Amino acid sequence: MPMPQPTIGVFDSGFGGLTVLRALLPLAPGTHFLYLGDTARLPYGAKSQTTISRYAVESSRFLEDHGCDHLVIACNTATALALPDIRDHVGIAVTGVIEPGARAAAEALARVSPGDHAGESGAVPAILVLATAATVQSHAYRDTCAALGLRAYEKACPLLVPLVEEGWTDHPVLRDVLRIYLREALEEMRAVGLRAEAVLLGCTHYPLIADAIRQALRELGSDAEVVDSAAATARTVAATLPVAATTGPATFACYATDSVEKFARLGSVFLQRNIPEVHLLDLGG
Ligand code: DGL
Repeated sequence: MPMPQPTIGVFDSGFGGLTVLRALLPLAPGTHFLYLGDTARLPYGAKSQTTISRYAVESSRFLEDHGCDHLVIACNTATALALPDIRDHVGIAVTGVIEPGARAAAEALARVSPGDHAGESGAVPAILVLATAATVQSHAYRDTCAALGLRAYEKACPLLVPLVEEGWTDHPVLRDVLRIYLREALEEMRAVGLRAEAVLLGCTHYPLIADAIRQALRELGSDAEVVDSAAATARTVAATLPVAATTGPATFACYATDSVEKFARLGSVFLQRNIPEVHLLDLGG
């Protein structure tokens, strides 16, 4: 009997999680993906834990009810604030972005600073996590890195999501904003005896500006490695797929809770391919 096609639900507050789907598609042949972007209620990054959890659980249940046998919480903010609640409310495997991202940053740190020694400056090698305000306030990355025996410093970068959604990914304003956030973060880290050796992109939108982040770091004299939690999550999820199912191209269908036209237009920038059809979904207020 042929194996049933694996169906993976990918959930995000909006378009950003398409960077995770983009990384997943080539790694998961033979798999069907259902992507849900809760565009009517984004951004999540400035909302409370209670609200984020309610929204994320509703979306997760929708994906489970529509035949998904694995759920990827592609949103850093939803993972940081709602992963335990989501796991309590669905009966399928759930993978968030934080643990894979933290592990990838730990590997990067081990490559550049084997032994975790303080350098000549006396500063301890650490991971700089860039994320939304809600993710930073949750300290989910700091705590996950601590469980891996690593120091992390979290910096909220609330202006980056709107700049990316505006399409200003290669724009002088973006470069100025990045220089300000990164200079502040590096100085704040130095003040507490930390040295950034890896910079973890702890928000779905940041892979689109990874080059600009790298460039700003170099201009500020930092050679920290930039680590993408979307790519790390995709590798983790792909490793769970049954080998027998891995034939033929991966396929996907998209749902959005607000304008399907806007989702198809902006989403194709995040996914870096055309999105032919988007289904409108009403999850309530
Ligand atoms: N998807 C969110 C994240 O990765 C960014 C956008 C938002 O704030 O909703 O944190």
